[in-house]
Amino acid sequence: MARIPDAFIDELLARTDIVEVIQARVPLKRQGREYSARCPFHDERSPSFTVSPTKQFYHCFGCGAHGTAISFLMNYDRLEFLDAVDELARQAGMEVPREARQRAANPESQGLYEVLDEACRYFQRQLAGSDRARGYLDDRGVGEAVRAQFSVGYAPEGFSALKDALGTDPRQLQLLDRAGLLSKNDRGHVYDKFRDRVMFPIHDRRGRVIAFGGRVLGKDAGPKYLNSPETPLFHKGRELYGLWQVRQANRTLARLVVVEGYMDVIALFEHGVTQAVATLGTATTPDHAELLFRNAPDVYFCFDGDRAGRAAAWKAVESVLPRMRDGRQAFFLFLPEGEDPDSIVRSEGAEGFDARLQQATPLSQFFFDTLSEGVALSTLDGRARLAERARPLLAQIPDGAFGDLMQQRLAEITGLQAKPAAAPSAPVRSHGSRPLAPPRRSVVRSAIALLLQQPSLALELAPPYRFVALRQPGIDLLTELIALVSARPEITTGTLIGHFADRKEGAALQKLASQDLPGDPEAWRAEFLDAIAQLDRQTIDQRIDELQDKQRGEGLDEADKAELRELLQARR
Ligand code: UTP
Ligand code: MN
Repeated sequence: MARIPDAFIDELLARTDIVEVIQARVPLKRQGREYSARCPFHDERSPSFTVSPTKQFYHCFGCGAHGTAISFLMNYDRLEFLDAVDELARQAGMEVPREARQRAANPESQGLYEVLDEACRYFQRQLAGSDRARGYLDDRGVGEAVRAQFSVGYAPEGFSALKDALGTDPRQLQLLDRAGLLSKNDRGHVYDKFRDRVMFPIHDRRGRVIAFGGRVLGKDAGPKYLNSPETPLFHKGRELYGLWQVRQANRTLARLVVVEGYMDVIALFEHGVTQAVATLGTATTPDHAELLFRNAPDVYFCFDGDRAGRAAAWKAVESVLPRMRDGRQAFFLFLPEGEDPDSIVRSEGAEGFDARLQQATPLSQFFFDTLSEGVALSTLDGRARLAERARPLLAQIPDGAFGDLMQQRLAEITGLQAKPAAAPSAPVRSHGSRPLAPPRRSVVRSAIALLLQQPSLALELAPPYRFVALRQPGIDLLTELIALVSARPEITTGTLIGHFADRKEGAALQKLASQDLPGDPEAWRAEFLDAIAQLDRQTIDQRIDELQDKQRGEGLDEADKAELRELLQARR
């Protein structure tokens, strides 16, 4: 794992508000001291995901997901550790220590990002120098602003333009190759993969170039579009073309429109529809579906009206159903034969395209229409067939209003109960509801719980701590926590328990920390000091017992006697 100084991480988390970070991605509801939501990491009906502004962590009582703002970004935005740190640092206006950065970043992918970025800028320069390529974009109505926004470029003719320009040494050549920019013929000769093509760089969620799509200028010369192969940085089933630009252009996103082609995304942008993304010549995968809904609650899938388009739409349905949590909606728009969003928006403008979106078919309707094809719903047999087809698909929908609605709709259409006859009802899942308060709390345990509630309480204590000598489970942990807070007085609960993430105590600490203790800071302080005093007293008792045992056995020396007197006094 990356090495960034702990102190930097502490400072970063101290300057970050986890509520803000999560709220920007998952709508939170205030509840007392905390915020709650339905957990973004598992499917559930009632909210068991909580975010604590004071502790600066999140915790799900249902699935156990938990962590700091950093781990949230890692899990939700699927970022690497260092990228999550970068992202938060950017928001907090902090600079990640350069040296740490370089050591931490995977040197291999670092080189790939760099060479892809160089290639992107090289292609842009070539576009500026090619009348033919610029003429092509002019003809297709792609203006300067959108060209710049999408970093559109041009890969020149010939077989080694890019290779000669950037492949200046063996390492660079190897990087170009691993970045998917070169091809090799049967005789082992290496040459440019993209030649005489308009180049569309594909950006990742952080705006880094990870691949390219290239379109032929003329009619000849191989496939119309050539895409980068899969590389360590590029997995086309997980990326959406244009998502970076969409996120840049919209502070919040009410909808995303999924189209098929690069030029569709670009033409829509050109006309002011800045919420379109494209799958990269593949069917919509479940990864795509999740990514789409993480960015917008409403997703419109736009397809050709022909057979192939309908088949592609059904693929999208299959990927989307398991992601249909409450609050999410999917629609399907089928365009007339021979049209695509590019041609529609050019002839009908943004209003025309929007008007079509308004008319789009809801997922539920497309679902039942498609399943009913070739089924005679007037017969009992046909209705049974439909129910049979629908069941396994409906079973994939997460619990929630949408799933209920679909079951209900199926029942309406078929007159049959959709769910298989329920087995005698299973005990209600405790999953998702708060667990009961832990039984009988020891004093150590409650001191730890209070410390996790408010780490700064540790600063109320002055060493040496008497209780350190107490032989009781949890004392070492308590001591360690106090030492951590003393060394870093600003530490938040989230960061504090983060230190134990890889240790066996981690889970127990997380559980303790996630309790919402009754009372207020003043009460916690009193309780904490009282707990420490009790522990001190138990330590004294323990030592007195020891000394008295010794007295009965081998006897006490002078120092022992003095200590015992002092302890007996202290106990009073
Ligand atoms: P289309 O063939 O519908 O082309 O491919 P288009 O988007 O309308 O392109 P223009 O308007 O003629 O420029 C749709 C998408 O399918 C993928 C590309 O991602 C393309 O944008 N595709 C298509 C390929 O990957 N390779 C091809 O040869 C063709
Ligand atoms: Mn087109």
